[in-house]
Amino acid sequence: MLEYVVANLFDVINEIGEDKAKKLLSNFSCKYNLDVEDFLHGKAIDFSKRSIANTHIVLMNKNGKWVIGGYFSLANKLFFIEPDSVSSKSWENRFLRFGIYYPDLKRYIVPIPLIGQIGKNYSSGCEDLISGAELLQLAINIIVAAQRNLSGKMVYLECADHPKLVDFYVRNGFVKMYNRLLDDEELHQDSPGYLVQFIRYL
Ligand SMILES: CC(C)(COP(=O)(O)OP(=O)(O)OC[C@H]1O[C@@H](n2cnc3c(N)ncnc32)[C@H](O)[C@@H]1OP(=O)(O)O)[C@@H](O)C(=O)NCCC(=O)NCCS
Repeated sequence: MLEYVVANLFDVINEIGEDKAKKLLSNFSCKYNLDVEDFLHGKAIDFSKRSIANTHIVLMNKNGKWVIGGYFSLANKLFFIEPDSVSSKSWENRFLRFGIYYPDLKRYIVPIPLIGQIGKNYSSGCEDLISGAELLQLAINIIVAAQRNLSGKMVYLECADHPKLVDFYVRNGFVKMYNRLLDDEELHQDSPGYLVQFIRYL
């Protein structure tokens, strides 16, 4: 892998200012997933400033010029799951160790960090500067470091039920947990109405 720096967008904004940060992010494009592109262009700065989700950009040194290889956004979330959807006793034990079972809701509720967005930069000349596995590992490194201080041993994410995406996460140590039905405001045209939730024990 080329020389790289993982930069927290919050620090980038403080360092170079919001306008320059916006310009830097505008060089990211993601032909496979416009939500991933739109988030970085339109929401990442606001979400970072308000600490709703923190974006980390991976800057790669390409012939002396720093370009975005990819990015990911992390958020502190609550993971909800019904007992019937838990695939094994060991997962059930983990949910009870780090979370709680609410009988009224008939669900485990577990605080788990979410990889809310992750994507490589597919703009011309930047494709394949970093592999998806490397990008994912950089996100996990940050979560492991945070959990060493805060506690916790899991990470989760949600993705479209596309065989190639599912295969990517399984190859990278994630376990498919269940299909989360989307709320009305999350639904858009052509949406199958659910996202697949994947979880990894770290
Ligand atoms: C997901 C991602 C990080 C994986 O990295 P990668 O280096 O491409 O991983 P792999 O080489 O293992 O290949 C993943 C395969 O999934 C495909 N793929 C990637 N994103 C996809 C998407 N959103 N929908 C359908 N297929 C997708 C890739 O084209 C690749 O196909 P190939 O094997 O025929 O080349 C990267 O493909 C990416 O940035 N995708 C776009 C953004 C995205 O969809 N993020 C995931 C949101 S949950």
